Amino acid sequence: MLGILLAAGRGTRMKSDMPKVLFTVNDEPMAFAPFHQLQNLCNTVTVVIGYGGSDVKASLLSRASEISGLNAEGKTIFCTQQELKGTGDAVRTALEGLARGGHKLDDDEEVIILNGDLPLIRKQTLDLFIKQARESKVDSACLSFGTNNPTGLGRIVRDMRGIFTNIREEKDATNDEKKIREVNSGVYYFKAPVLKEALSKVSDNNKQKEFYLTDALGSQSGFKSAAIRCPYKWDLSGVNTTYELSVARSIAQARLQKTLAEEQGISFADPLSVFVSARCQFEGPCNIGPNVQLLGRTRIGKNVNFVGSSLIEDSQIGDDVIVDFSTVVRSAKILTAAKVGPFAHLRPDSIVGEEAKVGNFVELKKARLGKKAKVSHLSYLGDADVGDETNIGCGTITCNYDGASKHKTVIGKNAFIGSDTQLIAPITVGDEAYVASGTTLTEDVPSGALALARAELTIKNDYARRLMAKLKQQKK
Ligand code: UD1
Ligand code: CA
Repeated sequence: MLGILLAAGRGTRMKSDMPKVLFTVNDEPMAFAPFHQLQNLCNTVTVVIGYGGSDVKASLLSRASEISGLNAEGKTIFCTQQELKGTGDAVRTALEGLARGGHKLDDDEEVIILNGDLPLIRKQTLDLFIKQARESKVDSACLSFGTNNPTGLGRIVRDMRGIFTNIREEKDATNDEKKIREVNSGVYYFKAPVLKEALSKVSDNNKQKEFYLTDALGSQSGFKSAAIRCPYKWDLSGVNTTYELSVARSIAQARLQKTLAEEQGISFADPLSVFVSARCQFEGPCNIGPNVQLLGRTRIGKNVNFVGSSLIEDSQIGDDVIVDFSTVVRSAKILTAAKVGPFAHLRPDSIVGEEAKVGNFVELKKARLGKKAKVSHLSYLGDADVGDETNIGCGTITCNYDGASKHKTVIGKNAFIGSDTQLIAPITVGDEAYVASGTTLTEDVPSGALALARAELTIKNDYARRLMAKLKQQKK
């Protein structure tokens, strides 16, 4: 079977410079769902690109490379439609591209064509469509559905006997045709020779001066053609506007959460407020509280508890981790049984070791915390390496930036950094060293040493009371 994906259009109604098919649904470009279905069904897939073509190609292949067992690059041919002269012209472009590449279509070869703006299309829907097309022994077929709001869609026109005669695009439709409630979804089946012949007859004699693929269907095309009504009509919600995009996103997210709940025991406290990327991977049951966003290529171990209101992107979270309320984690790793948050910020290249603890108002950037290390309150660790079981006191700051370059702080194992310490990097604190509270550390501390930098303390008995009395006297 040959697959053709139509993804050359701009999508003017989205009112954006970005190609429509690159708007994401579940964090994948919307054309990826139909692309993926074609990869599974067909031995060769042709993608027609045009507007933003190189971006479209790169995005589809990049997402495909993340899915194991999907060798998309090996069997996909990208063809560029030079001028966007309609869906019929797009399919011609695909067939010409195949011919140029020496790909011969057998007479009994079947072709599946999908619009690129069908982010909700699923295997069960396509399987049913192909099965029915084969059983009814047609030359061509489109998948249709019933709707109360057919605006903008091609209408399925049937004669008095109910035989599918043609598809009428909205802009060319008479008032009577506009009332038809059965519409074309943008999913097509053709026998290869029929597709070639029917397409050769398609003209651009219509309101939009476009070559419509839809003119190659229906009995008027001269072939045995069926419009097969789909029972799963949500699968066929095409996206033409940003409103339709938001509807598709909600449905896709609900479906993804259902699958994760049923197949992996992920539990969602408040599903509507949560977003999980389709690119995330879970290794076992987890708890996801309200307002959690799990974005990008994030890997999540077993029994992780996301308490709520957190954003995690392109990160790795180990088993039994607790991500407490309001934590932001980007391109970072949190190892087994560590606890982060509430109100923690883990920036790229940070690693929180096993059973380590990052508490409230702590920011890590390119910082590694060893096993059971603790930084519990109000600290900044940047370009730092902290050994196992070291305690970083409240308000500690690694002064990693001198105004021109970044410098590294290395703190050994079992060390103790007192509260309100500033470590002026580059600097090294040895294992089991002790830095007294309030120290501005400008020299390395050897292993086992104490570092203490304080001005001498003066206490003057009764001085404060006398001073206040004097000041109040002066004020009168
Ligand atoms: C098309 C159908 C319409 C159907 C609707 C479903 C035609 C003529 N009409 O209309 O019957 O109800 O889909 O959503 O096909 N594309 C190209 N090259 C082009 C034009 C479009 O590759 O020159 C691609 C687009 O990127 C898109 C798909 O084809 O993925 C459909 O194009 P779109 O403009 O959305 O078609 P509709 O007007 O919605
Ligand atoms: Ca469309």
